[in-house]
Amino acid sequence: MANIKQLSARPDDLAPGHRLCGGCGASMAVRQVLMGRNDYDVVCCSATGCLEVSTSIYPDNAWGVPFIHNAFANAGATISGVEAAYKGLQRAGKIPADKKIMITFGGGSVRRNGVYDQVVKALEGRDWVEFWGIEPNPSVETVREAVALGRENGSDFLLAVGGGSVIDGTKLIAAGLLYDGDPWDIVLKGQADKTVPLGTVLTMSATGSEMNSGSVISRQETKEKYAFYGDYPVFSILDPETLYSLPQRQIACGLSDTFVHVLEQYMTTPGQSRLMDRWAEGILHTVIEIAPKIWENQHDYAVMSEYMLGATLALNDMIRMGVTQDWATHMIGHELTALHGLTHGATLAIVINGTLRVLREQKRGKLLQYGERIWGIADGSEEERIDRTLEATKKFFRSLGLSTRLSEEGIGETTIAEIERRFNASGVKYGEAQNVDGAAARRILEACM
Ligand code: NZQ
Ligand code: ZN
Repeated sequence: MANIKQLSARPDDLAPGHRLCGGCGASMAVRQVLMGRNDYDVVCCSATGCLEVSTSIYPDNAWGVPFIHNAFANAGATISGVEAAYKGLQRAGKIPADKKIMITFGGGSVRRNGVYDQVVKALEGRDWVEFWGIEPNPSVETVREAVALGRENGSDFLLAVGGGSVIDGTKLIAAGLLYDGDPWDIVLKGQADKTVPLGTVLTMSATGSEMNSGSVISRQETKEKYAFYGDYPVFSILDPETLYSLPQRQIACGLSDTFVHVLEQYMTTPGQSRLMDRWAEGILHTVIEIAPKIWENQHDYAVMSEYMLGATLALNDMIRMGVTQDWATHMIGHELTALHGLTHGATLAIVINGTLRVLREQKRGKLLQYGERIWGIADGSEEERIDRTLEATKKFFRSLGLSTRLSEEGIGETTIAEIERRFNASGVKYGEAQNVDGAAARRILEACM
């Protein structure tokens, strides 16, 4: 137990400068309690009264610890809420101290922008190993190496630090660590059975992988790329400042990906949900508005945080509630990445134009709504309005500096034939009407030439 001399050396957490009367019992009681707190984190709460009024006269604050004023006589309930929230955060957002962590990274951007140092500092005293080299469009070949390292070290918690590719690759590592066979089996099955827990530190906004359970994995030897469902991250840390170091093309691809995620869940059948439509339209408007601001100043915290949050909300299971979904553009885009290595967002900026043109009749109602609400196109015949809407959409992708035609990327008939063959061989039918088969994929790709 500390003696008076030791107590008097402790910092004063109720600073002089409060306006309580000299000799007031309340301030003495508070000081004595705070002196006894040792190393515990403390939050103080006071109901309305002398103590509260005299210690927090706006704009001053005499408290050296977090302080809450409760306007009613239930400070005790408020503080038990704080405690419950703190415990909840610990459960969800902290890695238990006894976990053996494997941190996964991409090619090294986090070393250059300081994120690596932040992570290492936060994990001081923990038991961890590092796995480097998860590439853009993560491959099962790399995941196999990571699973071997994780097994060797008994890793039972994964921390993915990077963009969608690092997170996606880590989702497969999480499943692979608890699976006896080849991780590619999990991808082909489309669903992981068991996974070790995974947290993420996001450095590139596009995929929503930080808040969804999806993952897209490539197999280099066969030039295939498929999605599977793993587990949701137990927490994700999103700091907009990590986006400051992104190359402009990555941001363009991230905005394109975000925009098309929304269209995949919105540009289907009209009249299914006013609320989902408005949310989706809100994200589209935001992306259109912030894109030029990002080009002006990539270090604008407010703008970059809207980009970051917009990308997460576009694919975190929110705007898909109760509405039909398409995803044909994505599936065709994955083939273009698998065959040509074209960046994901860049494939979408091309294919979406073909999808909207070929499925124009099926999507007529939604195209008209989107044209009016997003692009302000309300005059003229329906055909004219849709034409202008398709043009505005294409112009938007071009404003990001992305190609909108396959020929610009040197892609032609050989690839179209291969994608048609692959779709026919697997018998897939994508889209909200399940009518995008091999032949439809060909028409869409031809419309992108
Ligand atoms: O590898 P490093 O060195 O970290 O560099 C990366 C990479 O080269 C770099 N980068 C990331 N953060 C950076 C940075 N450079 C500078 N500063 C930073 N802060 O950016 C490059 C691209 O990163 P990547 O992770 O590949 O980008 P993205 O987040 O767009 O992920 C794309 C992958 O996600 C899949 C895509 O198919 C693609 O494989 N998707 C995943 C989805 C999901 N899980 O739900 C849905 C999407 O539709 C998408 O299919
Ligand atoms: Zn995407």
